[in-house]
Amino acid sequence: MIKAVRGTRDLLPPDTALWNFVEAAARDVFRLYNFREIRTPIFEPTQLFARSVGEETDIVAKEMYTWEDRGRAASNKGESLTLRPENTAGVVRAYIEHRLWERPGLQKLYYMGPQFRRERPQKGRYRQFYQIGAEAIGPPTSGSESPSVDAELLEMLAQYLERIGITNWTLELSSVGCANDRPRYNQALRAALAKDLATMCADCQRRAVTNPLRVLDCKVPEDQPIIEKLPRMLDYLDESCRQHFQTVQDLLTAVGVPYVINARLVRGLDYYTRTAFEFTHGALGAQNAILGGGRYDGLSESLGGPKAPGIGFAIGEDRLVLALSQTAEALSNPPDAYLAPLGAGMDREAAKLARELRRQGVVVELGDESFRLKKSLETASRIGARYAVIIGENEAKADAFALKNLATSEQVTVPRAELARCIRR
Ligand code: HAM
Repeated sequence: MIKAVRGTRDLLPPDTALWNFVEAAARDVFRLYNFREIRTPIFEPTQLFARSVGEETDIVAKEMYTWEDRGRAASNKGESLTLRPENTAGVVRAYIEHRLWERPGLQKLYYMGPQFRRERPQKGRYRQFYQIGAEAIGPPTSGSESPSVDAELLEMLAQYLERIGITNWTLELSSVGCANDRPRYNQALRAALAKDLATMCADCQRRAVTNPLRVLDCKVPEDQPIIEKLPRMLDYLDESCRQHFQTVQDLLTAVGVPYVINARLVRGLDYYTRTAFEFTHGALGAQNAILGGGRYDGLSESLGGPKAPGIGFAIGEDRLVLALSQTAEALSNPPDAYLAPLGAGMDREAAKLARELRRQGVVVELGDESFRLKKSLETASRIGARYAVIIGENEAKADAFALKNLATSEQVTVPRAELARCIRR
């Protein structure tokens, strides 16, 4: 038997009703904030992720699905391609490629779809997982640097979670500074690491030289006591970053979105500047981050684009669905009516009637004339239909059908023209 690849899974009904529910709510809520949808390809040039997410991150160094795509002709060279491990890089590439800064105002774009990371699978962590994300990006003249964009995005997330009935969340907030204060912080990290570095893991030793911030990602238990004592970025913010962060907090307080400052918040991607955040959820165990995001004021330039500060987030849809208290059964609608054709030639009558009823908005499951009535009624009950409509030769001639309420077993004869109204009632 061929099975789904490790770390991937099938989403089956009725669970897919939960996925549709959170996606539809996201579209509704994001629309209220004037976000519009963008769809970018599922694979991109490997370089895009190396240059944005960062060579030293776990994602790029260890977790990407990358392959050498063959050229089709001598003139057409092969290239290294990668299944997207996240969607921000693709959105910023599209922003640059389509010169979206020429469009008026801030570009507010949302997306939903699969992402791929070769992580060790466990509950809430998959190799193909799904994100619902959004990015607000534009030239500084569009207001893209303003702390009010950060606060609005966070408030939108709070509103979204409330809308889908997720209450038990914590917004963990931090600032990771900018290109101006980062060198001082890197220096402080290197100095603090100097005496213990020889005892640390190989990744830490390398990262201390290439990208000291990434030492904070280390999961090796023996290294943790050293990492816990390292200086905190929040203490190295320059005046403008400090003020920016303060204003984000003031605005959140003003609109009543609760948050906690987590000076140890580590985001696993290199492009972040200033505001960084995660929403965690109590009921999820080890993989408790339902979403993460932050600012990336230098990302466009590092990909060869114009100055285009931005901020965004991505919700882990798999984890969101795990955190829902809604049940799939409550959301998945069974059919309104089961049409039971009875005897030879009746499939034709049933098909015509089904077409009419569906045009009037009735959810119909169509039976088969080869079924005996008993089997038809049993099937109708098992799939949860509210009514069975019996279509035999007499009914077809009279143009009126037996409508059986499957909960009460009550049966009435209803003329064709009245049928949809009776069923929908
Ligand atoms: P991220 O923190 O890497 O950020 O991922 C965002 C969310 O995706 C996580 O909080 C988690 O819920 C979910 N997630 C990540 N990996 C997995 C996995 N293997 N299985 C299940 N869920 C997972 C980003 O991806 C950034 N692009 C977010 C962003 C947008 N920053 C700015 N704009």
